[in-house]
Amino acid sequence: MSQATIESILQEERLFQPPAEFSQTAHIKSLQEYQSLYDKAKSDPETFWAELAEKELHWFQKWDKVLDWQPPFAKWFVGGKLNISYNCLDRHLNSDRADKIALIWEGEPGDGLKITYRELHRLVCKMANSLKSMGVQKGDRVGIYMPMIPEVAIAMLACTRIGAPHTVVFGGFSAEALKDRLLDAEAKVIITADGGWRKDAVVHIKDQVDKALADDGVPSVEKVIVVRRTGHPINMQPDRDYWWHELRKAAADECPAEPMDSEDPLFILYTSGTTGKPKGVVHTTGGYNLYTHITTKWIFDLKDTDILWCTADVGWITGHSYLVYGPLSNGGTTVMYEGAPRDSNPGCMWDVIQKYGVTIFYTAPTAIRTFMKMGEALPLARDLSSLRLLGSVGEPINPAAWMWYYRVIGGERCPIVDTWWQTETGGIMLTPLPGATPMKPGATTLPFPGIEAEVVDLDGNPVGENQGGYLAIKNPWPSMIRTVYRNPNRYRTTYWEHIPPKNGQYLYFTGDGARKDKDGYFWVMGRVDDVINVAGHRLGTMEVESALVSHQAVAEAAVVGKPSDIKGEEIVGFVTLEEGYFPSDQLAKELKQHVANEIGALARPATIQFCEALPKTRSGKIMRRVLRNLASGQEVAGDTSTLEDRSVLDKLRGGA
Ligand code: WTA
Repeated sequence: MSQATIESILQEERLFQPPAEFSQTAHIKSLQEYQSLYDKAKSDPETFWAELAEKELHWFQKWDKVLDWQPPFAKWFVGGKLNISYNCLDRHLNSDRADKIALIWEGEPGDGLKITYRELHRLVCKMANSLKSMGVQKGDRVGIYMPMIPEVAIAMLACTRIGAPHTVVFGGFSAEALKDRLLDAEAKVIITADGGWRKDAVVHIKDQVDKALADDGVPSVEKVIVVRRTGHPINMQPDRDYWWHELRKAAADECPAEPMDSEDPLFILYTSGTTGKPKGVVHTTGGYNLYTHITTKWIFDLKDTDILWCTADVGWITGHSYLVYGPLSNGGTTVMYEGAPRDSNPGCMWDVIQKYGVTIFYTAPTAIRTFMKMGEALPLARDLSSLRLLGSVGEPINPAAWMWYYRVIGGERCPIVDTWWQTETGGIMLTPLPGATPMKPGATTLPFPGIEAEVVDLDGNPVGENQGGYLAIKNPWPSMIRTVYRNPNRYRTTYWEHIPPKNGQYLYFTGDGARKDKDGYFWVMGRVDDVINVAGHRLGTMEVESALVSHQAVAEAAVVGKPSDIKGEEIVGFVTLEEGYFPSDQLAKELKQHVANEIGALARPATIQFCEALPKTRSGKIMRRVLRNLASGQEVAGDTSTLEDRSVLDKLRGGA
């Protein structure tokens, strides 16, 4: 975050009360009501969660034990049996909701579809039966690599229906990144499409699948199911690739939902960390279903009449929790949009809101800052009066963007929920409840009931009011990450031993810096580790560095984030070259493209800076702090006495 942003946040004193009309009909109507829920959850978490689980979800069999906490491993609703696909579909079929629209899809170019709960149930059953016909059994992993089309939600619900954990890989990731994830998850089947639309062009994602699987690249993969989306010609490999529309014809309309153990893995979602390859975050069935259900209901104040549009791609956790599972578990109507603002259609987001009467809009600060830059004439030219609640997620929102969102999009009548959470937390952890919590622009305000958050130092001691520290969670919660797939040790050390446990008290380390103000409000400042947040997308510096050094010209690389007005952060790569290679604009361009090919366009560095040597400590560690300062044009702050070779710094300053 830039110095100016930090200063504006530190001075932020404005307070916005939830509008009275909103509070009157809200699920949670006042700060007192929030406080009593919070207190109840704190004093007796097991009863709090058990009562909600009983009331809000359907169980094939009730649990024996609410929580089995053997730090840092938690089991929730032990012995209980349920199915999230059942909770998202079947249970709505015996009510008026059967013919309610479950999913509104706005496709490109100009395509669209509305799917009722009854129809969605039928399509999910058919896909589940097709998966079975491809040999998928309970426990087998299924890769999903798709554009934003209804079949991506159908595929997820079909997998969870038969107990096959899915691993959704964002469609913007490259073949290499896809391959890494499929290899780690040992996926048996992949569901993909012949292409998708992205900013007026077709993206050929099936080619990426072919590349990832070439030369038996992922030996576990036996079959590929391909959805016809664009109709462009693609390669279909006999006995491996099958068209979904053909399988669908043969598949029966009914597929009973498999009663899953509460702790059976539900899905694996890969996310970036400080070291090594992206890690497979494992979520399980019961806790995730309950937590995403109740957070959707209370934080988005979801009612039967609402139309919720979460703009995140399903490839990220936000899409999993608040586009698919949370809204559908509540019987809500969820919107999926394949497009994005672009020169040929800059007002498209506002068109979607107007067209469908969206009531709840959930997006990222990067998008909001982009909308700001495009100007308020675009939203003001549309009727956005259906909106009643706005949400923000993925990165810190600066007060100026918050105010613009509040005023221009929300017409000063919609509360804003600034929601802090992570892939690992499964659901929203810090947030206002819109009918209850007074809002401060830039603050994620208070913990959700059942969550005990604290700002601590590296010894785990709480820091003082308004002092910066590490954001940590003190207690287990239902949708917490259960483990890193096939790497419980990494789970333990990354999240629970970063702050050394004391007297059996484990603290979950979030990787974020934060401060708590005099009202107990949390202000999240951004990552404190080697994770860069580009436009709300998490990337590990290590991943980008590995991509850079895999290019023949590169000897060494160090990657840092640099503050950016729109994207929050952008990537700067410092590079030293192998013998025989020389800095040039052409090479910089080639290296940027190389990273995009290796990981995906979202990881393309904004800047490549060639240098003779990287600043290192005597023990050989790259001093990223120094590079961060240099990248953002600041003076090199802090101690540099451990630098091995001080002349390196001078050369870097000189832009060498
Ligand atoms: C950041 C996305 C400030 C944070 C749900 C976190 C936020 C990372 C906020 C997780 C917010 C998310 N304010 N920062 N409201 N929400 N973050 O796993 O750095 O893709 O650690 O999950 O995004 O990113 P992830």
